[in-house]
Amino acid sequence: MNAPALETRRLVLRAFTERDLDALFLILRDKEANRFLPWYPVESLEETKAFYEGRYAPLYALPQAYAYAICLKEEGCPIGYINVSMEEHHDLGYGLRKEFWHRGIATEAARAVIERVKRDGMPFVTATHDRNNPRSGGVMRNVGMRYRYSYEEQWQPKDIPVVFRMYQLNLDGVESRVYRGYWDNSTVRFVEKGVYAAHRPGTSMAKLTAR
Ligand SMILES: CC(C)(COP(=O)(O)OP(=O)(O)OC[C@H]1O[C@@H](n2cnc3c(N)ncnc32)[C@H](O)[C@@H]1OP(=O)(O)O)[C@@H](O)C(=O)NCCC(=O)NCCS
Repeated sequence: MNAPALETRRLVLRAFTERDLDALFLILRDKEANRFLPWYPVESLEETKAFYEGRYAPLYALPQAYAYAICLKEEGCPIGYINVSMEEHHDLGYGLRKEFWHRGIATEAARAVIERVKRDGMPFVTATHDRNNPRSGGVMRNVGMRYRYSYEEQWQPKDIPVVFRMYQLNLDGVESRVYRGYWDNSTVRFVEKGVYAAHRPGTSMAKLTAR
């Protein structure tokens, strides 16, 4: 099933459509809200349409994908987005218009999407955030994800070095699994002390750091 609609106390999560381009423009044009994202803020409706056609329409053509518009029940139109990738990292990503920050909306949306992908058999989700964007890590922790490691990447298309923190939540009971893709692809990778992580025996990064 592709982007099966989800409902929470305050939100409806559903697929974007071409009718949402005005709302998507408001989400994508804000410089601050798009600073830590792998694209530049859009400057026009045409660019928004190209964004939709390049990043959403192909996902909606797949048999299964989780790419959602976040809508407040009371307003109806999208105020943000949340996605879980079907690629091997199963990356969770989200963003909201700035006017809607600090109300627990990203956390509420992420809980619903994670519950759904778990029900659909996804074994785990990961998420990464620039360590200069710690509020995003707050959302990850709010939904039970745990910090696993950090790695540096020459980040595109902005072409700047970024240290990312990688969080993971295993959904199938295999507690010891750590997704290694980012670790293996980076020459600068390490485990930061002091990043909150409720380590349990057998689930630490010992296996990675011992290499
Ligand atoms: C990141 C973002 C989605 C958070 O949305 P939000 O709905 O405000 O987040 P929530 O309220 O659900 O959860 C964040 C909460 O985590 C908690 N938190 C826990 N640890 C935290 C920490 N170290 N730093 C900040 N917040 C932390 C806080 O309670 C925080 O809420 P508050 O700032 O209102 O007190 C939003 O700021 C955004 O759209 N940013 C731009 C896009 C972006 O950066 N996306 C993520 C890319 S990795």
